[in-house]
Amino acid sequence: MNKALRKAVIAGNWKMNKNRAEAKELIEALKPVVADAKCDVVICVPYTDLETAMAATKGSNIKVGAQNCHWAKSGAFTAEISADMLTEMGVEYVIIGHSERRQYFGESDITVNHRVRAALDAGLTVILCVGELLEQREQGITSEIVSMQTKVALGGVSAEELKRIIIAYEPVWAIGTGKTATADQANEVNHCIREVVAELYGKAAGDAITVQYGGSMNAANAEELLGKEDVDGGLIGGASLKAPDFAAIVAAASK
Ligand code: 13P
Repeated sequence: MNKALRKAVIAGNWKMNKNRAEAKELIEALKPVVADAKCDVVICVPYTDLETAMAATKGSNIKVGAQNCHWAKSGAFTAEISADMLTEMGVEYVIIGHSERRQYFGESDITVNHRVRAALDAGLTVILCVGELLEQREQGITSEIVSMQTKVALGGVSAEELKRIIIAYEPVWAIGTGKTATADQANEVNHCIREVVAELYGKAAGDAITVQYGGSMNAANAEELLGKEDVDGGLIGGASLKAPDFAAIVAAASK
């Protein structure tokens, strides 16, 4: 089975939650309970928590990511953060194209591509988010939407660089709603994403890429989702804010 060739990645997306003291507390609680993970463990924290997170995770198996980065190296882009600013701090991962950025902040497939390029150039590993709206699922165009998002985002990305891309399938209707895609729905779209990657880069690349599911993944449903052939991990929102819940998902991915 190809799944066995891929290392699962469980990433927490803290979104706009936790001040520095709360971040430190959560990380200290997490460290012992994820120490034996057989998957990669990442926490993507607010910019203001990055320094705290880098210090608190030192010597542990928890890797740190940001939740976005700009495409320019520097310049007049008020409130933005460059990829180099992240790597200079020792940050290794960055989420790009989250649906909340697309929905509320005008992020487009093109700007997602620019940000992906900048992140790769700086040496970051990218967690690239794709996913359909409820209306799009109801129209039966999920695979078209997700394929297009994936193809545009990967424009100009080489086969070598693709090794630093993780794709997270996050159906927008399942995010923060408590409404999870069924394991079969998640697997079907994840498989479709893998086929798009295979079409662009060849079968071996499609087989090798880590494709996560995200959207109301929690301690109770993680095992079933993560058991599916094409689900190689999770991008976790709400449940990543509580150490026991996140640890349970990491444990499910470590089986
Ligand atoms: P929830 O797990 O809170 O649904 O959020 C998922 C998500 O958006 C992770 O990026």
